[in-house]
Amino acid sequence: MSRTPHALAAAGIGLRLQHIAEVAATRPRAAWLEIHPENFLANPHARELLEDIASDYPISVHSVGVSNGRADGVDCGHLARVKELVDRIDPFLVSGHLAWSTHEGEYLNDLLPLPYDRESLETLAAHVDEVQQTLGRLYHVENPSNYLGFTGSTMTEVEFLTELVARTGCRLLCDVSNVHVSGFNLGYDPYAYIDGLPAEAIGEMHLGGFVVEDEDGPGAGQVIIDTHSRPIDAAAWDLYAHALRRIGPRPTLIEWDNEIPTLATLMAEAGRAERVAAEVLGEGQRRAAAG
Ligand SMILES: [Fe+2]
Repeated sequence: MSRTPHALAAAGIGLRLQHIAEVAATRPRAAWLEIHPENFLANPHARELLEDIASDYPISVHSVGVSNGRADGVDCGHLARVKELVDRIDPFLVSGHLAWSTHEGEYLNDLLPLPYDRESLETLAAHVDEVQQTLGRLYHVENPSNYLGFTGSTMTEVEFLTELVARTGCRLLCDVSNVHVSGFNLGYDPYAYIDGLPAEAIGEMHLGGFVVEDEDGPGAGQVIIDTHSRPIDAAAWDLYAHALRRIGPRPTLIEWDNEIPTLATLMAEAGRAERVAAEVLGEGQRRAAAG
């Protein structure tokens, strides 16, 4: 039976291979753990530790390899391997990206963007349907971090995601840091983006660290790179508080995949996320009591 986080705004941490032996041995007080199934599919030792750990923690499965957005169809073999792990672990939530990362059998290191038009919507809706039918579960689709927009896009990302939910019944994973990154890089208001999302469809939130870099060339500005390599930036914490007010409390992941720190550092960031949520929810309760 799947375990669920103890509170709606419980903050989880990623279970990365660097920490798996320590987590198995010490059972830290994390509210929940997120895994990338791709780390465990060809690693029997890690998989054995994961199955043991999963008996003690709620688990969220976040696939980085299902590649929903590619034009030549979902990789059925990969999806079948993910399903086998998902059935075994019985997570409280399964998610993936609004992106593509494989083409003609080649796995690419990046999550690549799609133009937001009718053709992409048809493709993605068909793939999300296939993923949900295969897994027998709702799939949560995550908003990407963007660096360039497509001139051929005919809808905004929020409109595209809203249509995708309406077409497939899928759910959304709102990466709050990605909203900040994309808003900065593409010049839109991240607060308005959050306000436009279908709140009831959002099942999880992400917070990840990023770096601000100077671009090359005359008159160049700055670009934010979504590195998942640093503590959460103040701007993302502020946007997270806004998302909690607008969307409500949701399980929230501290996403840290590069230059991975100690478990204690990850747990401290998760603790901060829970304190931000407690403050925001307390505000709401005080307003309701006074009103
Ligand atoms: Fe994310």
